[in-house]
Amino acid sequence: MRALVTGASVGIGRETARALARDGFDVAVHYRGHAAEAEALVRELGAGGREAWSVRADLARPDGARSLAHAVRDRWDSLDAIVHNAGSYPRARFAAISDADWEECLRVNLLAPALLTRELLPLLERSGAGRVVFVSSVLALAGSRHGAHYAAAKAGLLGLARSLSRELAPRVTVNAVAPGSIDTAILAADTPEMRSERNRAIPLGRIGTAGEVAEVIAFLASPKASYVTGTTIHVNGGLRPE
Ligand SMILES: NC(=O)c1ccc[n+]([C@@H]2O[C@H](COP(=O)([O-])OP(=O)(O)OC[C@H]3O[C@@H](n4cnc5c(N)ncnc54)[C@H](OP(=O)(O)O)[C@@H]3O)[C@@H](O)[C@H]2O)c1
Repeated sequence: MRALVTGASVGIGRETARALARDGFDVAVHYRGHAAEAEALVRELGAGGREAWSVRADLARPDGARSLAHAVRDRWDSLDAIVHNAGSYPRARFAAISDADWEECLRVNLLAPALLTRELLPLLERSGAGRVVFVSSVLALAGSRHGAHYAAAKAGLLGLARSLSRELAPRVTVNAVAPGSIDTAILAADTPEMRSERNRAIPLGRIGTAGEVAEVIAFLASPKASYVTGTTIHVNGGLRPE
């Protein structure tokens, strides 16, 4: 089995790549800035007996998704899973979000996953049991006071997942995972007070780990999830935004 994981250099994407390799996937490790981390991961997965290779693409650029798809097609003629994990959460009040900010945020978090899926569809269909997993966010449902563009993009992924689950059935399943607060660089800007405020709001009393999200993604990407499509799994410690 072969999987592409976008944003696999760090955080949730890296743990997802590890979980998929453990479960028998060869992995294309996409990254943007963290080249050394991506290379270290490729070595780690390779040492475990998997084919792993890295590919750089800036998905904020108009040609980013196309160039990534091109690199995958150059190397592989079929693909069993795409995990659309790459994303960025620029914090800004609504009135201060410029046209360019909107375009960049929507491109990275919504448009690139859509275009990449379209470009790689022939490879997924060749698999016979292709899997697409979009990494959305609790903020798709709860909304964000610090990033309306991010919440809108992540909500868009849910509509995209539901639509594609209908259109691409039965050869490809399409699902989303909506993480809550997960301990990665995205939360690094939290002060200790912000962190304890977050923890208090979560029924399980703590933020989640990247590995806990990765396990759910790995399930959706696996042959075990053969009768699951068009759904969203919430990985948020019990927050009820919906
Ligand atoms: N952590 C949370 O609390 C949380 C909650 C809900 C949803 N999420 C979502 O989970 C996903 C993973 O986030 P994370 O928490 O693991 O954050 P992270 O540690 O900051 O990782 C983000 C990943 O996305 C890649 N990326 C960012 N901008 C990119 C761009 N313009 N082009 C290509 N790749 C880009 C990064 O690549 P490089 O580092 O190599 O540049 C990195 O691999 C994101 O979609 C995020 O929105 C996270």
